Amino acid sequence: MNNGYKDRKYLSIVSDILEHPEFLKLKDIMHHGMDRYNHSVRVSYYSYRIAKLLHLDYEATARGALLHDFFFEDNESIDKKERAEVLVNHPRYALMNANKYFTLSEKEQDMILTHMFPVAPMVPKYLESWIVDFVDDMASIYEKGFSLRKELSAAMSFLLVISMNALR
Ligand SMILES: [Fe+2]
Ligand SMILES: [Fe+2]
Repeated sequence: MNNGYKDRKYLSIVSDILEHPEFLKLKDIMHHGMDRYNHSVRVSYYSYRIAKLLHLDYEATARGALLHDFFFEDNESIDKKERAEVLVNHPRYALMNANKYFTLSEKEQDMILTHMFPVAPMVPKYLESWIVDFVDDMASIYEKGFSLRKELSAAMSFLLVISMNALR
């Protein structure tokens, strides 16, 4: 959960996306050890805050960033080769889905298409797109770290139980 869910100004900009039945499907897809819906809201909200602070186009940033991972391939259930393909190409899948259900400006489309730079070769054209690219990287590192910590603590608990049983 992040503060985006409590920020009324932010919610008024993105509520139609957050409530859209297709976008809600992202809640069922795992992404960096959490669901893709919450990852998208995190990237969108922090990108929005930075854009606002810098007097940039914060409304477009909130919407473009929210749609940056609007794709349905599930990284958890595909093999390594497919995962590499999705890693590079998912901005194009996300843009296709975003254009199917919403009306996007050129700038919002750029944010989606270039958010994987430099892993994917599309270079951001706008400052707002660079912000989304940067915030997505930071969010990914944080979320992967968090999920790793959860796994480590589960493993530690398991080892503790095993060792306590062995000592009995
Ligand atoms: Fe992505
Ligand atoms: Fe992302």
